[in-house]
Amino acid sequence: MNGALEAVDAAFGYEPGQTVFSGVSTSLRGGDLMGIVGPNGSGKSTLLRVLSGLLKPREGRVTLDGRPIGAYSPLARSRRLAFLPQSVDPAFALNAFEVVCLGRYPHAGAMGGLRRRDLEVAERCLRETGAAGLRDRDFMTLSGGERQRVLIASILAQEPAFLLLDEPTSSLDIHHQIEVFTLLQRLAGEGYSVAVVTHDLNLAARFCTGLLLLSGEEGLAAAGTPADVLTEPLLSQAYAASIRVSVNPITGTPLVTAEAVEHAP
Ligand SMILES: Nc1ncnc2c1ncn2[C@@H]1O[C@H](COP(=O)(O)OP(=O)(O)O)[C@@H](O)[C@H]1O
Ligand SMILES: [Mg+2]
Repeated sequence: MNGALEAVDAAFGYEPGQTVFSGVSTSLRGGDLMGIVGPNGSGKSTLLRVLSGLLKPREGRVTLDGRPIGAYSPLARSRRLAFLPQSVDPAFALNAFEVVCLGRYPHAGAMGGLRRRDLEVAERCLRETGAAGLRDRDFMTLSGGERQRVLIASILAQEPAFLLLDEPTSSLDIHHQIEVFTLLQRLAGEGYSVAVVTHDLNLAARFCTGLLLLSGEEGLAAAGTPADVLTEPLLSQAYAASIRVSVNPITGTPLVTAEAVEHAP
């Protein structure tokens, strides 16, 4: 699973005169677990969509395995790269296995039918994310953590090399957040290239191999290892708040805390 997803000096705005981010250069390869962090509205989801090829950069370029991502057909792109949006609500009542089978569409036969191999891949992906026991459950009745495992199984069923996930842990409790990040870390260890948007700087510090910090100030605030990026000056500027960074005594990774904001009485 080699190759790279690269952005060079990418900028994007939804409307003329609006700049969500600019000057973003990054490279995602096998083994990477890259966290995209930054305050609300700083452009994390937008950047993930630009990296996925769903939005076209206004300036700069995004390449997948050296070719402009816009040159791929949606089908060819989705065999290489899977994007999991922030909220996924299947329009029909589906069980977990059927949700995973949706991930096979880029590989389905000419008539859109799933063959025996497609079903085998879907079964394997359920097992890989520890979701085999949920196979026949109605997706809508699953807990948040169970849903995320099924959804990650469904993007694995695309058999991509690049996994881009938008806040897969935002509605989960701490135990299930760690469960999802541990799964993403394992997948990166197996050679997948993983990019994940997250609000949680401490989880990012603990699990990610690299971070992109967006500031919302029309530019990339910082990129590098968690230790490079999670510094008091960079975070305080990006979040426009007084942010303190110490060392997590249990994990040894950066521990980020915002100082309380005092309101006038
Ligand atoms: N479809 C859209 N049209 C216009 N502006 C948008 C659209 N989607 C997001 N934005 C704006 O782009 C900025 C970045 O949004 P987003 O990428 O969702 O941020 P984040 O994921 O970091 O919270 C915000 O100011 C948001 O209002
Ligand atoms: Mg977002």
